[in-house]
Amino acid sequence: MLERLKMMEQEALQALRSVRDVEALHAWDQAYLGKKGALTPFLRGLRDVSPEERPRVGQAVNQVKLALTAAFEAREAELKIAEQSASLAADAIDVTLPGRPPVIGRLHPSVQTLRRIYAIFADMGFQVYRAPDVESDELNFGLLNMPPHHPARDMWDTFYTTKAGVLLRTHTSPGQIRAMRQYCPQSIRVILPGMCYRYEQVTARSEMMFHQVEGLAVGKNITLTDLKGVMAEYARRMFGEGRQMRFRASYFPFTEPSVEVDMDCLLCGGAGCRVCKNTGWLEISGAGMVHPDVLRNGGYDPAVYSGFAFGMGVERPAMLMHAIDDIRLFFGNDLRFLEQF
Ligand code: FA5
Repeated sequence: MLERLKMMEQEALQALRSVRDVEALHAWDQAYLGKKGALTPFLRGLRDVSPEERPRVGQAVNQVKLALTAAFEAREAELKIAEQSASLAADAIDVTLPGRPPVIGRLHPSVQTLRRIYAIFADMGFQVYRAPDVESDELNFGLLNMPPHHPARDMWDTFYTTKAGVLLRTHTSPGQIRAMRQYCPQSIRVILPGMCYRYEQVTARSEMMFHQVEGLAVGKNITLTDLKGVMAEYARRMFGEGRQMRFRASYFPFTEPSVEVDMDCLLCGGAGCRVCKNTGWLEISGAGMVHPDVLRNGGYDPAVYSGFAFGMGVERPAMLMHAIDDIRLFFGNDLRFLEQF
């Protein structure tokens, strides 16, 4: 019996060494130490042992039971530690990994340019005045000296709405009348930014939707020299020192005299390219002295008051500053372009 006991103990300890997880350990416990386990027949068999032999054999069986129980507990502790370190390794956080940067939106290049323009004119005392995109025919044209069928209306290819007399403004100039009517008879110094819409062919330098910033100054003794000074200061701050600017005689029905302001083309350095139509110059603004009829329509007496106005694009100066050679990129929604700003 002692012989078999010894063999059973060795077999049990060997089996315990190959136990790799808690489940297998539980099965081992059942197989050797459980009620129906391998040790039980030895305990029961003590009945059949002679009374003289019983204490010795009983002690041996007991020792094997204690040894197997101790081995079981040691293995259980080992497995718990192994399980814990495996779960720690699985959940480990590498604190040295660089963080994931949050995706931050950007301002559209037109908005960035608008903000620069606001800042420059704010320093010269101009406030921002907002006027609507959907305008009446009367304000967009009529009150700016272009009654119905006036040929100058052809300068602006217009999007009309289905409602008679309502259109998408072709320029920010109708805001001049709104500002004058609101502030008359005080003197005015405002810029009017916003979107303009024209039913025209889209090319590298012309969009059918673009921004303009209108400027308007009304007061006593305002002259063309003031206009030139303001435009020169704007160009100096916007495009830097040493850039070329020129005033060209022009015609707008709502200014007299009228001029057009050109900058030397930054893209080709004046040599000529498709953006400047091979002239070396890029028109950045229409301007002039507010026509007496327009002053009158705004409520001012042209015998007492005078004023200057200008209307400039926003995307074209942005093209100059960032060397962008196609205006269509601004509203093409191509993130590869927009993310560069
Ligand atoms: C006008 O719209 C006049 N209202 C400007 C004005 C205001 C003159 C006040 C006198 C007094 P013009 O059509 O030239 O003028 O447009 C002015 C500027 O808007 C242009 O110099 C150009 O920079 C920009 N612009 C005009 N058409 C487009 C277009 N299709 N795409 C992008 N920019 C344009």
